[in-house]
Amino acid sequence: MIFSSLSDWINLLLSAIQVLQESFLHVLAALGLAQSSHGQPAWPFSHRLSGEVMLIDRSVARQLLSALGWSAAALLSFTIALLWRRGRLAMLLISVVIVFFTAWPDRQLLLAPAEATSFHVSPSGFSATAIVHGKQLYDQRCAGCHAADGKGDTPLALSARVAPPNLASGLLWRRADGELFWKIAYGMHDRRGATTMPGFTGSLTDNDLWDLIDFMKANAAGTSIRDIGAWDQPVALPTLTSNCEKSSPSSARLLNPWRGQRVRMVLASAKQPASFPLDDPRLRSVILADGAVSLPASQAGAPAIDCLMHSDDAWKALSIITGVTVDKLAGTQLLTDRDGWLRARKLADDKDNWSESDILCRAPTTMNKDNAAGGLDSLIAAMDAEPVRFVKGGFVHTTQ
Ligand code: HEC
Repeated sequence: MIFSSLSDWINLLLSAIQVLQESFLHVLAALGLAQSSHGQPAWPFSHRLSGEVMLIDRSVARQLLSALGWSAAALLSFTIALLWRRGRLAMLLISVVIVFFTAWPDRQLLLAPAEATSFHVSPSGFSATAIVHGKQLYDQRCAGCHAADGKGDTPLALSARVAPPNLASGLLWRRADGELFWKIAYGMHDRRGATTMPGFTGSLTDNDLWDLIDFMKANAAGTSIRDIGAWDQPVALPTLTSNCEKSSPSSARLLNPWRGQRVRMVLASAKQPASFPLDDPRLRSVILADGAVSLPASQAGAPAIDCLMHSDDAWKALSIITGVTVDKLAGTQLLTDRDGWLRARKLADDKDNWSESDILCRAPTTMNKDNAAGGLDSLIAAMDAEPVRFVKGGFVHTTQ
């Protein structure tokens, strides 16, 4: 791996901060020293290390990197001092000087308040079932304040002393999942301790809360695509639990898990059959069918698709994520990259070939780049050249 830019270093630093804290928690748990909270080991401190500030203020990242570099130099000269008797004094002096003069970023900038569940991992796996179940709960319990699209402009919200935030903005991605979980479980309070948002731990189960988080992310993706025509935050293809009813011998193995393969998902119905040949060495082709569909003809003896499945939940979850209503979804195609992130969408009435302009999730700098002539090859090249890698609440993004 070549570290060409400060962003690469920041990513490395953030991963290191995360791995360090997770490992620490695992060791505590393994030694039986961690308490349990909501079924997982509890973070024992009121704060955690966070890289969030580094993303906003690059000078903090630079300062931390240089401080770490100098500390490594100090350690090296200390080690030399131990081994090299004649130069010991000089080397010791050098280490002391380095340690003394190294400027570390303000501690406050690298710490964020933490909850017992800060490092909890969602057990729901961003599954279609969780998203659909989350939607039912959200409509009953949350939409009254937060509005169906998450923007929070309901009459109830507008009359509240503290307005709910826009859940369709990048907010959910800036928070750690475990910290969202905590807030929904125990509510939120203002400085004087008055409740600003109610807690739900008494009336909803832990799994309900994780499902709600999955739904809110899917919903924010759909709202974003309706508003700006793109996913402004990365969103994963939901985990689909249905089995392939028809599959090529190799794909049952390849599709489960989906990761590591680019997937083209075609939503087909009797009226919008996937008539074009789908066999393509660059992609795994999956047909998500609504009712009975006719399948594309196989090519030269090879099966034209890798998987055919029926799943109401998948259909509903993809409707939420793509911002297309369930009845208009047939004919839509979606592409994921090898890491499972949804990257491109083609609507039913768009009969052009795939091109780079179908990418809906990319770095802001290249968002408007449009290479319509390059076809699927240039789309895949562009997608692979810009993998999704950024962080959430100072936590590195994963698709689950
Ligand atoms: C009575 C109105 C109300 C209801 C009902 C409600 N919320 Fe909230 N919610 C709020 C308000 C107000 C805030 C902002 C609170 C603050 O900043 O102190 C908020 C904040 C949030 C946040 C942002 C947390 C953060 O990290 O800043 C999330 C996520 C959230 N609510 C999810 C939910 C979910 C999920 C439900 C349903 C289970 C729900 N809310 C029900 C009013 C409500």
